[in-house]
Amino acid sequence: MTAFYHQVDPHSEILRDLENRLHLENLLKSNCYPKIDEGKDIIEGLSSSNKSIPSRYFYDDKGSILFEKICELPEYYPTRTEGKILQQYALEIAQMIGSCELVELGSGSSTKTRLLFDAYQQLDYPLCYVPVDVSGSILETSAKKLLVDYPFLEVSGLVSTYDLALQKLEKTSFSARTIAFLGSTLGNFSPQQCDRFLQQVTSALNPADYFLLGVDLQKPIEVLEAAYNDAQGVTAAFNLNSLNHLNWRFDGNFEVSLFEHRAIYNRELNRIEMRLFCQRSHQVRLEKLNLTVNFTDGESILTEISRKFDLSEIQNTLMKQGINLLEVWTDSQQWFGLFLGQMQ
Ligand code: AVI
Repeated sequence: MTAFYHQVDPHSEILRDLENRLHLENLLKSNCYPKIDEGKDIIEGLSSSNKSIPSRYFYDDKGSILFEKICELPEYYPTRTEGKILQQYALEIAQMIGSCELVELGSGSSTKTRLLFDAYQQLDYPLCYVPVDVSGSILETSAKKLLVDYPFLEVSGLVSTYDLALQKLEKTSFSARTIAFLGSTLGNFSPQQCDRFLQQVTSALNPADYFLLGVDLQKPIEVLEAAYNDAQGVTAAFNLNSLNHLNWRFDGNFEVSLFEHRAIYNRELNRIEMRLFCQRSHQVRLEKLNLTVNFTDGESILTEISRKFDLSEIQNTLMKQGINLLEVWTDSQQWFGLFLGQMQ
């Protein structure tokens, strides 16, 4: 009987270990930050003569699922190509960086980052992972899976926007911090947004800290346009879903069937422009924003830009921000680039 009380319950031991290695903080719930001006960006975007909707409105629950599907489409090469580069060079990257605190902005399900964890595990280098994502449920679910699969890993997740997380990062006990920004999300920023974002990144880094950046590179226009106009229509559904999102969020009456998705490459600005083209003149009302919008036949709404870079452009952009380029890894076709920079 006494022996029973002294026996260690293996399940509670495991749970305690997982709890010790997991810390989650929700910065979006904290009172010390002003609430985002709900809908102000929509009023601005839809009242302009060149109508636009910020691409963040893609990502409601349905939009996030559609984006995961996009990543697996045969035409959508970026996710697969970046994954292949990481698969090939993760060990080299880990060896160059060494033990560190790894902050990943927009971590999602952390699928590609696992390749880095495998490398750190193999090298027996300690690592603290700080995933940052606006979706608390995705963050928590993936953090728990990671802790089970990687017993050496500590996870300190932040439910947060990039801006907030970069301001709030505390001093790390590790000798270096690495900020990772994968998936070419940088391409969804305008040049001004990109500069502002990189300034925030560098403010969160100390001299000799690292920045790991994945970006999509320029390539034949047919490849680019096919990637954003897939045959199964998943990207079209993803784009059109932003109208459904506005309908439920702002009590709107967008009739989705009156719009058509098209993604066109702008050769001058080196970017894909995703638009929704209006098929017939009509009026839309967004009740909660007290906004009425008139659409004319053939008019379009710009919903996303996806910039495509060249290698030297990224090198110069990083240099301008005080980041020295240590290494660039690409695939055999030079379709995607993974850049490792170090703060001066
Ligand atoms: C998130 N981002 C990098 C994607 C891209 O390729 O620009 C978003 C996307 N839009 C349509 N397909 C994918």
